[in-house]
Amino acid sequence: METEEKVQKRIIITGGAGFIGSHVVRLFVNKYPEYEIYNMDKLTYAGNLANLKDIEERPNYHFVKADICDFDFVLKFIQEKNIDGIIHLAAESHVDRSIKDPFTFAQTNVMGTLSLLQAAKLYWESLPEKYDGKRFYHISTDEVYGALEMSHPQGIKPPFSTQASSDQHLAYGDTFFTEDLKYQPHSPYSASKASSDHFVRAFHDTYGMPTIVTNCSNNYGPYQFPEKLIPLFINNIRNRKPLPVYGKGENVRDWLYVEDHARAIDIIFHKGKIAETYNIGGFNEWKNIDIIKCVIHTVDKMLGRNEDEDMNLITYVTDRLGHDARYAIDSRKLQSELGWEPSLQFEEGIEKTVRWYLDNEEWLENVTSGDYQSYYERMYSQR
Ligand code: NAD
Ligand code: TYD
Repeated sequence: METEEKVQKRIIITGGAGFIGSHVVRLFVNKYPEYEIYNMDKLTYAGNLANLKDIEERPNYHFVKADICDFDFVLKFIQEKNIDGIIHLAAESHVDRSIKDPFTFAQTNVMGTLSLLQAAKLYWESLPEKYDGKRFYHISTDEVYGALEMSHPQGIKPPFSTQASSDQHLAYGDTFFTEDLKYQPHSPYSASKASSDHFVRAFHDTYGMPTIVTNCSNNYGPYQFPEKLIPLFINNIRNRKPLPVYGKGENVRDWLYVEDHARAIDIIFHKGKIAETYNIGGFNEWKNIDIIKCVIHTVDKMLGRNEDEDMNLITYVTDRLGHDARYAIDSRKLQSELGWEPSLQFEEGIEKTVRWYLDNEEWLENVTSGDYQSYYERMYSQR
């Protein structure tokens, strides 16, 4: 157990206006009123301050519009606010965009992470206590491990489960991503995340910086930008637009409800061991086509449409380049060492998610039209 004075009190959360970041900011602002939380975000197309409307007036919440690649600004800010913890989520995060524009991914994900690391290093090393009580927590993805074999395309009873595992859930192979697995990224996105993970570990190994890295599986839930599979498809079903399924829809992803990821981040930030890696996932593999059918079923039911009426929207399209076949996280280390468990069964998580998007049409319409950007651009045009 850490002593009271070692607990971080002034924390930068980068990318806090994005999908996962907004859930982490909300959790920390609500749970730790004694902390000062600085949401540092550039507000790219994926950053939306409307995601934080419910907490924006809280006295311990501060928004800082900044680019993490702006080293001079970041260093000055860390010094001025005497920052003792950084939870780093800011990134370019969409694989399809990375295939079209890899440079932006290298810039933000690699150079941005390096800029934060170097700024934190310079400031923390200048202090009498140096790295004592400090923490640099880097949020990464399971995609850095590459693709797993689909050795059981029909699915088998999973060898691992959690209390919240659904009865319907299957595993599609015998291998899983464990923390000691070699990195084998395939997409420009995962290559950029892998590179940033290496820099974070290098700062621990070279300078003794107190770092932690976590690699999480695919997240879903409220406030996800509708370019990713689940919110895109909910929106398209709502508007009766085609659902573009890449390839045969047989690729497998391991899905985690975003609030469960945020809870894991809280636990790991406070109790995780320095220099460790933790994989985060709920043993919840699904083929894309099965998720898509589940989403159609749920949307149609909630909108009072004839059951499964919109299955005909499924449209098979050309596969994504280098499309990874299967991701599946082994999170037993996190579960056994730090006692984290996912809270929801997948079917409940999907119901909550669909309900949220259908109840928040205005949010969806704003982000699909881009209106939120011009609004906040005007508000924060000073910096
Ligand atoms: P997101 O795309 O929804 O949000 C990213 C945020 O970062 C946005 O608010 C954006 O404005 C901000 N940002 C981008 N470039 C910036 C810059 N140069 N300076 C400051 N801010 C900048 O992403 P997300 O899905 O919430 O993912 C957050 C993190 O979690 C990423 O590091 C991602 O790699 C990781 N991750 C995501 C998933 C997932 O399923 N979404 C799974 C595992 C890990
Ligand atoms: P996505 O949400 O982009 O996450 P990631 O690529 O990080 O796993 O995609 C999830 C899966 O859904 C992935 O296998 C690609 C597939 N997909 C489609 O079939 N159609 C789509 O329009 C999108 C966005 C994704």
